[in-house]
Amino acid sequence: QKNCYILGIESSCDDTAAAVINNAEILSNVVATQAIHEQYGGVVPELASRAHQQNIVPVVHQALQRANIDKKQLSAIAFTRGPGLMGSLLVGTSFSKSLALGLGIPLIDVNHMQAHILAHFIKAEGQVAPNFPFLAMTISGGHTQIVKVTDYFEMEILGQTIDDAVGEAFDKSAKILGLPYPGGPLVDRYAQKGNPKAFKFPKPKVSPMDFSFSGLKTSVLYFVQKEVAKNPDFISENIEDICASIQFTIVDYLMEKLKNAVKKTGIKEIAIGGGVSANSGIRNALKEAETKYGWKTHIPKFEFCTDNAAMIAIVGELKYKTQNFAENNVVASARMKF
Ligand code: KG4
Ligand code: ZN
Repeated sequence: QKNCYILGIESSCDDTAAAVINNAEILSNVVATQAIHEQYGGVVPELASRAHQQNIVPVVHQALQRANIDKKQLSAIAFTRGPGLMGSLLVGTSFSKSLALGLGIPLIDVNHMQAHILAHFIKAEGQVAPNFPFLAMTISGGHTQIVKVTDYFEMEILGQTIDDAVGEAFDKSAKILGLPYPGGPLVDRYAQKGNPKAFKFPKPKVSPMDFSFSGLKTSVLYFVQKEVAKNPDFISENIEDICASIQFTIVDYLMEKLKNAVKKTGIKEIAIGGGVSANSGIRNALKEAETKYGWKTHIPKFEFCTDNAAMIAIVGELKYKTQNFAENNVVASARMKF
């Protein structure tokens, strides 16, 4: 519909976000990231929900303003119901319910993990939507999973992390090296100048499509401690090689899991998402797999990879088309399943 404007609201972790969509095109995409967590080296749930409380009205206001529409033109409100931090989800959920009630328009509940995947269906320059069936790998500071996607809302989790998320593996390794939080992008920057085979780290053995990262962090810690005991300047003298070796281990592990999923399903179309999709190592490995294994790969624009509300809005639009609305007693769900 030409005049169907849907407002998406995301508040599952530490980003307060709002976006307006019309015909699969994003008219505005506003994110307020919470700097407060940096000094703690990770997200503090209590502080996150408080910051959402402060940010949500200004962020929504800005999203409407940038889209150049009035709230009375909205057709529906889509919000992240879960999974995520309960205190954070409650802010977005309560706000969305109230706004929908006030405006007298439908409310649409969205699964955050499905949204990361369906972000590929946003119409944007340089972005080509995947064809069904495809494999989606969502990799971020909070998630690591491989999903078989048969249709918009027909998804099956093939594998996931049994402990830390891949972004945490980057961030915790970075912390051991004395880099500031979140260290993933810095590891990537150093890695590009280092030798990926300089040091060897073990890859944990779990079932073929599952992931485990807590052992990697421990082995990086022991390795660094041992070397620093011999040479106090070991980290600064070898930062590029250390980062390249850690990144190589992680990327190789992600690719191995993807290959297992391709082998199991016969599906060669791959769509990735989540903040770690910015990583140069995984991007190069995926590009290489296109020529090497005949895969077709998709990486969304970066603003649709990290936590954002545009992905919530596209799911809202897809559900709006089939009148798939939430009940007005809907509640946030920290462990929401597909
Ligand atoms: O999706 P996101 O912004 O937030 C959630 O965690 O949901 O992902 C953030 C994660 C952090 O762990 C960050 O270190 C990682 O993505 N990250 C990267 C890179 N850019 C962001 N990790 C490795 N290489 C990068 N270039
Ligand atoms: Zn996310």
